Amino acid sequence: MGEVIFIGVAWPYANGPLHLGHVAGAYLPADIFARYHRAKGDRVLMVSGSDQHGTPITLRAKQEGEEPQAIAARYHQSFLQCWEKLGISFDLFTSTNTPNHMKVTHDVFLTLLNKGYISRHTMPLPYCPQCKRYLPDRYLGGTCPYCNSPDARGDQCNTCGKPLNSVDLIAPHCQLCGAPSHVRDSEHFFLRLDAFQDRLIQWVKQQTHWRESVRHFTINLLEEGLKKRAITRDIDWGVTIPQPGFENKRIYVWFEAVIGYLSASQEWALSQGDSQGWQPFWQPGTKSYYFIGKDNIPFHTITWPAMLMGYEGLALPYDVPANEFLTLEGKQFSTSRNWAVWLPDYLEHYAPDPLRYMLSINMPEGADTDFSWRELVRRNNDELVATYGNLVHRVLTFTQRQFGREVPAHGEFDPVDNALLHESETTFTKAGSLLDKCHFRDSIQSAMSLAHEANRYLEKKSPWKMIKQDRQATATSLYVALSVISCLKTILYPFLPFSSQKLHHLLGFSGKIEDSGWTYPVLPPGQEMAPPEPLFTKLDEEVVANETTRLGGT
Ligand code: MF3
Ligand code: ZN
Repeated sequence: MGEVIFIGVAWPYANGPLHLGHVAGAYLPADIFARYHRAKGDRVLMVSGSDQHGTPITLRAKQEGEEPQAIAARYHQSFLQCWEKLGISFDLFTSTNTPNHMKVTHDVFLTLLNKGYISRHTMPLPYCPQCKRYLPDRYLGGTCPYCNSPDARGDQCNTCGKPLNSVDLIAPHCQLCGAPSHVRDSEHFFLRLDAFQDRLIQWVKQQTHWRESVRHFTINLLEEGLKKRAITRDIDWGVTIPQPGFENKRIYVWFEAVIGYLSASQEWALSQGDSQGWQPFWQPGTKSYYFIGKDNIPFHTITWPAMLMGYEGLALPYDVPANEFLTLEGKQFSTSRNWAVWLPDYLEHYAPDPLRYMLSINMPEGADTDFSWRELVRRNNDELVATYGNLVHRVLTFTQRQFGREVPAHGEFDPVDNALLHESETTFTKAGSLLDKCHFRDSIQSAMSLAHEANRYLEKKSPWKMIKQDRQATATSLYVALSVISCLKTILYPFLPFSSQKLHHLLGFSGKIEDSGWTYPVLPPGQEMAPPEPLFTKLDEEVVANETTRLGGT
């Protein structure tokens, strides 16, 4: 048995549909990683769920004149459908609105309280005299005290990404009515992050395998010094506070959402009929990976590790391979301006693998990258269809026309054959070790280079000419090409699960491709193949104009 790998993926707020930025930022890399490790025979647990609490949900509910519960339930369903269609293979995708999550949150809260890591204080908080309510988090707008952006909210700056305390905002005002906010006293619980400062710095400095950007951002925040942070709110939607006198307040959404990783693992174990089955995934020393977008970094590299340190006995994150942002036609995705490609829309009209391909080969790993329909169509037509799909289709059809359904027996390999076979094996190894390090772009790029090489090989060998002179040598070339294709289906499986499964079947393998493992696939001569079918279809150039004009529309 291989390694034990825990994969936590950012919990999307159930306040709107997913867009491609979410996919590129967290869900796709997590899924590629999970599929790769499962194929390798590792024990993987990949969990997430919808983040159903907090002001993102209540504000949206207010706008739509509905109950928070109804909004959250609607988008939760939409998320589940998206995972199914896009092939995001969660072991469990639950929500923060479950009795189990509340129970686990209370346990973590009380444990930290009893150990003295949570303290209680009265503080002046933003209050709107007009709306007659406190203004937690997104109810409060203002200017960021760090970067001066006017686009800061009560808990985080949308521009520089720093976590904020609402009372530190400059020119604070109510997001509901626009009035300048006043302050009013309220009693709350605080997480004493300052108590973990030294341990966190020491720990983060040792994480030399983290992405440089993630590590730097975290070390900078830590070196600026940590203060205690309020972890309860004056709001009526969320996880209750297990202390008398706090019946009208709730736990801060970020404090409980990260606990979702643990509560979801326990829920999953229960669903497997083994209530202790989550423990191997949380034992200290287990490799746990958290796939998130860069705006979520501090919560996963500071707050959650601090909570785990305080709780004791559970694994700290091993890696937090946060991605940068995906832009759309050069601009930030924006829900309010409808500047987005919504995932449910995409999946209603187009196949999943071309999107998975485009977002993998163009993943915002080290820097922001851009999505445009022009680029999607180009990459689909020139790369997926022309380089990979046509390679497969040409070889399968020609082989079957000349030699029938069975994989032809090969003769002796010449140096050209050996060179390609060798490249195929080294690419297989390289693609895997790149995936181990979460280098997704380079991994899929190496597979595409191999497909290019295979095309060059076919041009050189020209089996369609050779067949007239030398049947045996032709059979050998086709066998070599088929072997490389078989290797490509394995390497590309984590990225393009639907087409790899199809190719698995076309090459005459039975069952599910993930069950055949992450081993260099030997293609047995004589294996009966299926009638060829194209793996991908070209997208019409019209798609570019049609879809681009819809952007930003209402
Ligand atoms: N809901 C948050 C967002 O969309 C992410 C929460 S990740 C979690 O930005 F770990 F806290 F759940
Ligand atoms: Zn800022």
